Amino acid sequence: MADPLELLALARPLAADAAALLREATGHAYAVDTKSSETDMVTAADRASERLIVDGIRVARPDDAILGEEGTTDQGTTGVRWIIDPLDGTTNFLYGIPAFAVSIAAEVDGRVVAGVVVDVERDECFTAALGQGAQLDGAPLRCSQLTDLGTALVATGFGYDPLRRAEQGAVVAALLPRVRDIRRMGAAALDLCWVAAGRFDAYFERGIQPWDRAAGALVAAEAGARVLVTDHGLTLACAPGLFDPLRSLVETDRPGTA
Ligand code: IPD
Repeated sequence: MADPLELLALARPLAADAAALLREATGHAYAVDTKSSETDMVTAADRASERLIVDGIRVARPDDAILGEEGTTDQGTTGVRWIIDPLDGTTNFLYGIPAFAVSIAAEVDGRVVAGVVVDVERDECFTAALGQGAQLDGAPLRCSQLTDLGTALVATGFGYDPLRRAEQGAVVAALLPRVRDIRRMGAAALDLCWVAAGRFDAYFERGIQPWDRAAGALVAAEAGARVLVTDHGLTLACAPGLFDPLRSLVETDRPGTA
Protein backbone atom coordinates (compact mmCIF):
# COMPACT_ATOMS: atom_id res chain seq x y z
CA MET A 1 0.00 0.00 0.00
CA ALA A 2 1.18 3.54 -0.74
CA ASP A 3 2.65 5.20 2.34
CA PRO A 4 0.48 8.16 3.51
CA LEU A 5 3.57 10.14 4.47
CA GLU A 6 5.07 9.67 1.01
CA LEU A 7 1.83 10.84 -0.58
CA LEU A 8 1.80 13.83 1.76
CA ALA A 9 5.41 14.59 0.86
CA LEU A 10 4.38 14.82 -2.79
CA ALA A 11 1.26 16.91 -2.14
CA ARG A 12 2.75 19.46 0.20
CA PRO A 13 5.19 21.24 -2.18
CA LEU A 14 2.62 21.12 -4.98
CA ALA A 15 0.09 22.86 -2.72
CA ALA A 16 2.73 25.43 -1.76
CA ASP A 17 3.57 26.10 -5.42
CA ALA A 18 -0.11 26.43 -6.32
CA ALA A 19 -0.59 28.82 -3.39
CA ALA A 20 2.32 30.92 -4.66
CA LEU A 21 0.70 31.00 -8.11
CA LEU A 22 -2.59 32.21 -6.59
CA ARG A 23 -0.82 34.79 -4.41
CA GLU A 24 0.82 36.18 -7.53
CA ALA A 25 -2.56 36.19 -9.30
CA THR A 26 -4.42 37.99 -6.50
CA GLY A 27 -5.81 41.37 -7.44
CA HIS A 28 -5.55 40.88 -11.21
CA ALA A 29 -8.70 41.29 -13.27
CA TYR A 30 -10.09 37.94 -14.39
CA ALA A 31 -12.65 36.91 -16.93
CA VAL A 32 -15.15 34.94 -14.92
CA ASP A 33 -16.99 31.89 -16.21
CA THR A 34 -19.84 30.30 -14.31
CA LYS A 35 -20.50 26.63 -13.58
CA SER A 36 -23.49 25.14 -11.72
CA SER A 37 -25.26 28.52 -11.36
CA GLU A 38 -24.51 32.17 -12.05
CA THR A 39 -23.12 32.51 -8.51
CA ASP A 40 -20.67 29.59 -8.99
CA MET A 41 -17.59 31.18 -10.54
CA VAL A 42 -14.35 29.90 -12.06
CA THR A 43 -11.35 31.82 -13.36
CA ALA A 44 -8.12 31.18 -15.23
CA ALA A 45 -6.43 31.17 -11.81
CA ASP A 46 -8.48 28.14 -10.66
CA ARG A 47 -7.53 26.34 -13.87
CA ALA A 48 -3.83 27.26 -13.76
CA SER A 49 -3.58 26.08 -10.16
CA GLU A 50 -5.21 22.74 -11.06
CA ARG A 51 -2.88 22.33 -14.05
CA LEU A 52 0.21 22.91 -11.87
CA ILE A 53 -0.91 20.31 -9.31
CA VAL A 54 -2.06 17.73 -11.85
CA ASP A 55 1.17 18.05 -13.87
CA GLY A 56 3.22 17.49 -10.70
CA ILE A 57 1.25 14.39 -9.73
CA ARG A 58 1.37 12.95 -13.25
CA VAL A 59 5.16 13.28 -13.39
CA ALA A 60 5.69 11.62 -10.00
CA ARG A 61 2.87 9.05 -10.08
CA PRO A 62 1.56 8.65 -13.64
CA ASP A 63 -0.74 5.70 -12.90
CA ASP A 64 -2.78 7.24 -10.07
CA ALA A 65 -6.37 8.44 -10.47
CA ILE A 66 -7.04 12.17 -10.18
CA LEU A 67 -10.24 14.10 -9.52
CA GLY A 68 -9.99 17.88 -9.76
CA GLU A 69 -12.72 20.47 -9.25
CA GLU A 70 -11.97 22.10 -12.59
CA GLY A 71 -12.46 18.98 -14.64
CA THR A 72 -9.55 16.58 -14.26
CA THR A 73 -10.78 12.99 -14.12
CA ASP A 74 -7.91 10.54 -14.68
CA GLN A 75 -8.73 6.87 -14.16
CA GLY A 76 -5.85 5.18 -12.38
CA THR A 77 -4.63 1.65 -11.82
CA THR A 78 -2.81 1.93 -8.47
CA GLY A 79 -5.67 2.29 -5.95
CA VAL A 80 -4.48 5.83 -5.20
CA ARG A 81 -6.75 8.72 -6.13
CA TRP A 82 -5.89 12.40 -5.72
CA ILE A 83 -8.70 14.83 -4.94
CA ILE A 84 -7.88 18.44 -5.72
CA ASP A 85 -9.53 21.77 -5.05
CA PRO A 86 -7.10 24.13 -6.77
CA LEU A 87 -8.82 27.23 -5.34
CA ASP A 88 -11.33 26.77 -2.55
CA GLY A 89 -13.00 30.10 -1.90
CA THR A 90 -13.10 31.40 -5.46
CA THR A 91 -15.63 34.09 -4.54
CA ASN A 92 -13.31 35.43 -1.81
CA PHE A 93 -10.39 35.35 -4.25
CA LEU A 94 -12.31 37.41 -6.78
CA TYR A 95 -13.49 39.94 -4.21
CA GLY A 96 -10.08 40.34 -2.57
CA ILE A 97 -11.18 38.73 0.70
CA PRO A 98 -8.16 36.93 2.19
CA ALA A 99 -9.75 33.53 2.85
CA PHE A 100 -9.03 31.05 0.07
CA ALA A 101 -6.96 27.91 -0.12
CA VAL A 102 -5.44 25.09 -2.11
CA SER A 103 -6.55 21.61 -1.03
CA ILE A 104 -5.02 18.27 -2.05
CA ALA A 105 -5.98 14.88 -0.62
CA ALA A 106 -4.83 11.36 -1.44
CA GLU A 107 -7.15 8.38 -1.10
CA VAL A 108 -6.02 4.77 -1.02
CA ASP A 109 -8.72 2.27 -1.93
CA GLY A 110 -11.41 4.89 -1.29
CA ARG A 111 -10.12 6.12 2.08
CA VAL A 112 -8.43 9.50 2.50
CA VAL A 113 -4.98 8.90 4.00
CA ALA A 114 -3.18 12.20 3.42
CA GLY A 115 -4.24 15.81 3.08
CA VAL A 116 -2.77 19.28 2.78
CA VAL A 117 -4.57 22.62 2.81
CA VAL A 118 -2.63 25.84 2.26
CA ASP A 119 -4.24 29.12 3.30
CA VAL A 120 -2.86 31.36 0.57
CA GLU A 121 -2.99 34.77 2.25
CA ARG A 122 -2.15 33.68 5.81
CA ASP A 123 0.57 31.41 4.42
CA GLU A 124 -0.49 28.59 6.74
CA CYS A 125 -0.04 24.96 5.82
CA PHE A 126 -2.33 22.37 7.41
CA THR A 127 -1.34 18.72 6.95
CA ALA A 128 -2.49 15.30 8.11
CA ALA A 129 -1.74 11.66 7.48
CA LEU A 130 -4.09 8.92 8.59
CA GLY A 131 -3.33 7.82 12.15
CA GLN A 132 -0.45 10.28 12.46
CA GLY A 133 -2.13 13.46 13.68
CA ALA A 134 -2.63 16.86 12.11
CA GLN A 135 -0.23 19.79 11.99
CA LEU A 136 -0.19 23.47 11.27
CA ASP A 137 3.20 24.42 9.84
CA GLY A 138 4.57 21.32 11.55
CA ALA A 139 3.09 21.97 15.01
CA PRO A 140 0.50 19.48 16.29
CA LEU A 141 -3.16 20.50 16.20
CA ARG A 142 -5.89 19.70 18.70
CA CYS A 143 -9.50 20.66 18.19
CA SER A 144 -11.77 22.42 20.69
CA GLN A 145 -12.90 20.36 23.68
CA LEU A 146 -16.04 22.44 24.26
CA THR A 147 -19.15 20.59 25.44
CA ASP A 148 -21.62 23.48 25.76
CA LEU A 149 -23.34 24.21 22.45
CA GLY A 150 -24.58 27.54 23.81
CA THR A 151 -21.02 28.90 23.82
CA ALA A 152 -19.92 27.32 20.54
CA LEU A 153 -18.63 29.32 17.57
CA VAL A 154 -20.06 27.44 14.61
CA ALA A 155 -18.98 27.86 10.99
CA THR A 156 -21.12 26.98 8.03
CA GLY A 157 -21.39 27.62 4.32
CA PHE A 158 -23.96 27.82 1.55
CA GLY A 159 -24.14 26.06 -1.79
CA TYR A 160 -24.76 27.73 -5.13
CA ASP A 161 -28.26 26.38 -5.76
CA PRO A 162 -30.97 28.86 -4.67
CA LEU A 163 -33.33 26.14 -3.36
CA ARG A 164 -30.58 24.59 -1.26
CA ARG A 165 -29.70 28.04 0.05
CA ALA A 166 -33.26 28.57 1.22
CA GLU A 167 -33.09 25.32 3.21
CA GLN A 168 -29.67 26.21 4.57
CA GLY A 169 -30.98 29.60 5.67
CA ALA A 170 -33.79 27.93 7.61
CA VAL A 171 -31.35 25.63 9.42
CA VAL A 172 -29.12 28.57 10.34
CA ALA A 173 -32.12 30.59 11.56
CA ALA A 174 -33.03 27.79 13.98
CA LEU A 175 -29.43 27.28 15.13
CA LEU A 176 -28.41 30.90 15.65
CA PRO A 177 -30.30 31.45 18.95
CA ARG A 178 -28.70 28.28 20.39
CA VAL A 179 -24.99 28.97 19.84
CA ARG A 180 -22.47 31.71 20.62
CA ASP A 181 -22.39 32.83 17.02
CA ILE A 182 -22.17 31.71 13.40
CA ARG A 183 -19.37 32.35 10.88
CA ARG A 184 -19.50 32.00 7.08
CA MET A 185 -15.91 32.35 5.91
CA GLY A 186 -16.39 31.13 2.32
CA ALA A 187 -13.84 28.31 2.02
CA ALA A 188 -14.90 24.89 3.30
CA ALA A 189 -11.36 23.49 3.36
CA LEU A 190 -10.32 26.30 5.70
CA ASP A 191 -13.46 25.90 7.83
CA LEU A 192 -12.48 22.29 8.46
CA CYS A 193 -8.87 23.19 9.23
CA TRP A 194 -10.01 25.91 11.60
CA VAL A 195 -12.04 23.29 13.47
CA ALA A 196 -8.80 21.30 13.68
CA ALA A 197 -7.01 24.34 15.09
CA GLY A 198 -9.76 25.09 17.63
CA ARG A 199 -10.53 28.45 15.99
CA PHE A 200 -14.04 27.17 15.32
CA ASP A 201 -15.78 24.76 17.66
CA ALA A 202 -17.75 23.26 14.79
CA TYR A 203 -18.46 23.42 11.08
CA PHE A 204 -21.33 22.00 9.11
CA GLU A 205 -22.56 22.35 5.55
CA ARG A 206 -24.81 20.38 3.25
CA GLY A 207 -23.83 19.77 -0.34
CA ILE A 208 -20.09 20.37 -0.42
CA GLN A 209 -18.12 18.30 -2.89
CA PRO A 210 -15.33 15.75 -2.28
CA TRP A 211 -12.68 18.29 -3.32
CA ASP A 212 -14.00 20.85 -0.80
CA ARG A 213 -13.77 18.45 2.12
CA ALA A 214 -11.36 15.57 1.46
CA ALA A 215 -8.15 17.07 2.87
CA GLY A 216 -9.77 19.31 5.49
CA ALA A 217 -11.92 16.52 6.94
CA LEU A 218 -8.82 14.39 7.49
CA VAL A 219 -7.04 17.33 9.14
CA ALA A 220 -10.04 17.87 11.44
CA ALA A 221 -10.38 14.17 12.31
CA GLU A 222 -6.67 13.79 12.97
CA ALA A 223 -6.87 16.79 15.31
CA GLY A 224 -9.50 14.95 17.36
CA ALA A 225 -12.68 16.37 15.86
CA ARG A 226 -15.65 14.12 15.26
CA VAL A 227 -16.40 14.13 11.55
CA LEU A 228 -19.55 12.93 9.81
CA VAL A 229 -20.35 12.81 6.09
CA THR A 230 -23.87 11.52 5.47
CA ASP A 231 -25.48 9.94 2.42
CA HIS A 232 -27.60 13.07 2.17
CA GLY A 233 -24.50 15.21 1.74
CA LEU A 234 -24.15 16.76 5.19
CA THR A 235 -20.60 17.34 6.40
CA LEU A 236 -20.23 17.97 10.14
CA ALA A 237 -16.94 18.37 12.00
CA CYS A 238 -16.83 19.49 15.61
CA ALA A 239 -15.53 19.13 19.13
CA PRO A 240 -16.52 15.60 20.16
CA GLY A 241 -18.74 16.88 23.00
CA LEU A 242 -20.82 18.98 20.61
CA PHE A 243 -21.50 16.23 18.11
CA ASP A 244 -24.85 14.86 19.34
CA PRO A 245 -26.61 18.16 20.08
CA LEU A 246 -25.35 19.79 16.91
CA ARG A 247 -26.18 16.83 14.71
CA SER A 248 -29.76 16.82 15.96
CA LEU A 249 -30.12 20.48 14.89
CA VAL A 250 -28.41 20.39 11.50
CA GLU A 251 -29.19 16.92 10.13
CA THR A 252 -32.74 17.85 9.31
CA ASP A 253 -33.49 14.84 7.09
CA ARG A 254 -32.85 12.36 9.91
CA PRO A 255 -35.99 10.80 11.45
CA GLY A 256 -36.98 12.65 14.62
CA THR A 257 -35.34 15.97 13.73
CA ALA A 258 -36.94 19.28 12.92
C1 IPD B 1 -17.10 26.71 -2.03
C2 IPD B 1 -16.55 27.16 -0.70
C3 IPD B 1 -17.68 27.64 0.20
C4 IPD B 1 -18.76 26.61 0.38
C5 IPD B 1 -19.28 26.15 -0.97
C6 IPD B 1 -18.14 25.65 -1.82
P1 IPD B 1 -15.46 26.96 -4.13
O1 IPD B 1 -16.05 26.18 -2.83
O2 IPD B 1 -15.89 26.10 -0.06
O3 IPD B 1 -17.21 27.98 1.49
O4 IPD B 1 -19.78 27.15 1.16
O5 IPD B 1 -20.23 25.14 -0.72
O6 IPD B 1 -18.64 25.25 -3.07
O7 IPD B 1 -16.59 27.05 -5.12
O8 IPD B 1 -15.01 28.29 -3.67
O9 IPD B 1 -14.33 26.08 -4.57
